[in-house]
Amino acid sequence: MKYNRRQFISFLGKASLGSVLIPPYLISFGNSNPSVLLEKKSADQLKELKDLRVLNLLASDKDDLVLTKGLDYHTVIKWGDKISDRDYFGFNNDFICFIPLEDDNPKDGLLWVNHEYVNPLFVSDFNFNDYENPLQHRTKKQVDKEMYNVGGSIVRIREENGRWQVVKNDPHNRRITAKTPIRLNWDSSIKGQTTVIGTHSNCSGGITPWKTFLTCEENYDNFYGETVYDEKNMPTHVPSRYGWENFYNHPPEHYGWVVEVDPKTGNAQKHIALGRFAHECCTLHELKDKRVVAYTGDDTNNEHIYKFISSKPHSLKDGTLYVADIENGKWLALDWESQPVLRNKFKDQTEVLIRAREAAKLLGATELNRPEDIEIDPITGNIFVSLTNNYSKKDFFGSILKIEEDQGAFDALTFKATTFKAGGEKNGFACPDNLAFDLAGNLWMTSDMSGSAMNKADGPYMPFKNNSLFVIPRHGKDAGRVIRVASAPVDAELTGPWFSPDGKTLFLSVQHPGEQTKDLNHPTSKWPFDRDNIPKPAVVAITGKLIEKFNHLNRIEK
Ligand code: FEO
Ligand code: CA
Ligand code: CA
Repeated sequence: MKYNRRQFISFLGKASLGSVLIPPYLISFGNSNPSVLLEKKSADQLKELKDLRVLNLLASDKDDLVLTKGLDYHTVIKWGDKISDRDYFGFNNDFICFIPLEDDNPKDGLLWVNHEYVNPLFVSDFNFNDYENPLQHRTKKQVDKEMYNVGGSIVRIREENGRWQVVKNDPHNRRITAKTPIRLNWDSSIKGQTTVIGTHSNCSGGITPWKTFLTCEENYDNFYGETVYDEKNMPTHVPSRYGWENFYNHPPEHYGWVVEVDPKTGNAQKHIALGRFAHECCTLHELKDKRVVAYTGDDTNNEHIYKFISSKPHSLKDGTLYVADIENGKWLALDWESQPVLRNKFKDQTEVLIRAREAAKLLGATELNRPEDIEIDPITGNIFVSLTNNYSKKDFFGSILKIEEDQGAFDALTFKATTFKAGGEKNGFACPDNLAFDLAGNLWMTSDMSGSAMNKADGPYMPFKNNSLFVIPRHGKDAGRVIRVASAPVDAELTGPWFSPDGKTLFLSVQHPGEQTKDLNHPTSKWPFDRDNIPKPAVVAITGKLIEKFNHLNRIEK
């Protein structure tokens, strides 16, 4: 059964919320979903969902995607799967976004998936452990293969009989890679170019109100290094980990941006106005006058969170970038014209944006413990930010920060910030990363304890075992509890949670299973148990009564 938006709203009004107003955020759009289409449930179906208990999974170190009762999964696509006769799915899938091709059919659409980075042992047959100075032994062929395996994929998928499948060779299917030309959405060139080569380090992302994908370049310095400046403002190049700059002369300044991709054409652009740093994500809110506010965090120790407020409708170029002063609850403008401290240091606004971290520190922005994902609560409009950890400050477990903009106005320049949930044994999670609100406003969260630190008897993470997926219910007796509902295979991280528009599927990335493998003959994980026994990152579709319970029922338990 299909519902259009008007029918959906009337269904909500009749069946559940009565005199309660439908929250404006829920019926507009959130980062979680471009549209809201729910199937109507019979009284018996609703009772069945209501009777279903949510069981907290025990922490597990099993090499499998373990799910709590009421959930099932199937693999939608995995590394190396053909999406067309020409292209295949890249490595280390992270952010996922699904946009239906038609608003009234939630079962057929375009899936965007980030490919964040590569493990050369699997991708290019190069073992960093074999050499004392590995970068001296790299070849262009290896680097070319790695460049293909990062970026993103657009794939048409369809659900039939409860299973999502790739429509192979659909004309929309394409790869964006580290070799795809991408134009800069800016009036001046950067390092002499207005179109640059490729995107990589694509971690999390977002969706725009005009239904395009946003993919964020995070740890870009791993591939072409970084330009750093001394006290006299003299630049030097810090080499990368993967050594691509030894084969391609692409300046680091071309990376570290928010990239927008048109789902239908694959055309991409980099948004310079949103600043350059290790962007984890980009979460947009559309104001009544169609201007947009974009929240984005810099996932590095002691870095910052930012927001961009556009001055024109639907622009990610015209406007002002601000950085958060958490202590004083102020958004500080990274504006060369009006900030003397920035005029003294940088030659123009372009340089301020390229060196946003330095500019933020000059303004007195608050250093944070690795800001990861940011999501907007669809019911209250509060902004939630994962602060994953900060070893340098002995914060091993991280927390979730809540930001309340003054008067609830997204374009406010003052706010209040408090801790929503602290990581640690009491709450049962460590190192929060991706966040997603479902259609009823329950908060879902993944964890990202690093592979080298997980399950180590002498480390802080032993009680938590493998990385996991959690839900924090909004209503009912479990409201506010952090409940583990999935446990990842060995060494893996669960990323990119995204709900289908009908609230029946949770798409999820299983990233870097078997990452600690030193020898391909003895991988630390074999998930997803392919014939070759090589672990493979994959996108799964999680379905089942529990997904439906949260998306449908909790709305009416209120
Ligand atoms: Fe790629 Fe910050 O996680
Ligand atoms: Ca992340
Ligand atoms: Ca992470």
